Amino acid sequence: MKFTLIAQTSLLALGLITASTAAFSAKPKIVQWNKPGGEEEQAMKLKPNRKHGIEVFEVCSACHLTEGWGVKNGTFPQLAGQHREVLIKQLADIRAGNRDNPTMYPFAQPSSIGGPQSIADVTAYIASLPMNPDNGKGPWKKGTPEYAQGKKLFKANCVKCHGSHAQGNGPKFYPRLEGQHYKYMIRQFDWIRDGKRRNANPDMMKQIKAFTNKEAKMVVNYVSRIPVNPKDLAPSKDWLNPDFD
Ligand code: HEC
Ligand code: HEC
Repeated sequence: MKFTLIAQTSLLALGLITASTAAFSAKPKIVQWNKPGGEEEQAMKLKPNRKHGIEVFEVCSACHLTEGWGVKNGTFPQLAGQHREVLIKQLADIRAGNRDNPTMYPFAQPSSIGGPQSIADVTAYIASLPMNPDNGKGPWKKGTPEYAQGKKLFKANCVKCHGSHAQGNGPKFYPRLEGQHYKYMIRQFDWIRDGKRRNANPDMMKQIKAFTNKEAKMVVNYVSRIPVNPKDLAPSKDWLNPDFD
């Protein structure tokens, strides 16, 4: 069932990609980071409704899966357990065309899921989901020189924003990175460094601009291997979300 849905959605998305990319082409490269106002500010003030959040999430689950775990190959990120503020900002940015995501764009529109109340509802629901205990990891295990170098780079360049175990910071909109899939993070890291992710944080861009591809891989490898607090994880990698049985 799950996979039929994914296949159908991808086909639908493919058809719509051509239409939606055209809308992005004339946009400026980097947008002002976290500009006040817009749907982000509106959604932040609304009281979430869980039941409606589950209904909206059905659309999202076609790609992010009903558990909100995404996929290890990084095509779809894990959303479960992410800070609600971060989810609101990213969703609002994607809807506003501030972060290019042609695959998701048509499904995230008001015509598909509704206005700011839907953003408030679905993000509160997603943030409450237990995380995938088996996220995609980078190539280097603990004990290798690359792992050690990644740890060093992490302490020197990332902790001040993302926190000592990459737990992020909701009120500051710093994403939680622990437990995220390695391949998704590498793509985002490269896009942020190279100015392709247009809603990127300018201070992070400065911090990582001199990173080589090897250094990027080593630091993200380390992040992908930071153990997540078991209280935030699902009991097993075979856990199925009971809200969608
Ligand atoms: C057709 C597939 C698809 C659907 C449906 C979809 N997404 Fe996504 N979503 C993606 C992809 C692909 C990405 C990653 C894009 C990238 O690499 O930049 C993404 C990224 C995101 C992100 C950013 C995560 C981060 O860590 O920054 C959020 C938040 C998100 N989606 C929320 C949602 C919500 C909420 C819904 C339902 C309303 C939804 N998505 C529906 C494909 C989809
Ligand atoms: C100055 C603060 C800051 C520093 C330093 C920083 N980041 Fe970030 N990072 C952010 C913010 C803020 C975002 C979200 C940007 C946005 O609003 O879209 C982000 C996003 C990311 C993402 C994408 C997450 C997602 O869910 O899409 C990755 C991966 C990442 N950072 C990794 C790192 C790594 C690794 C380092 C250290 C080498 C680092 N960052 C240093 C602030 C920072």
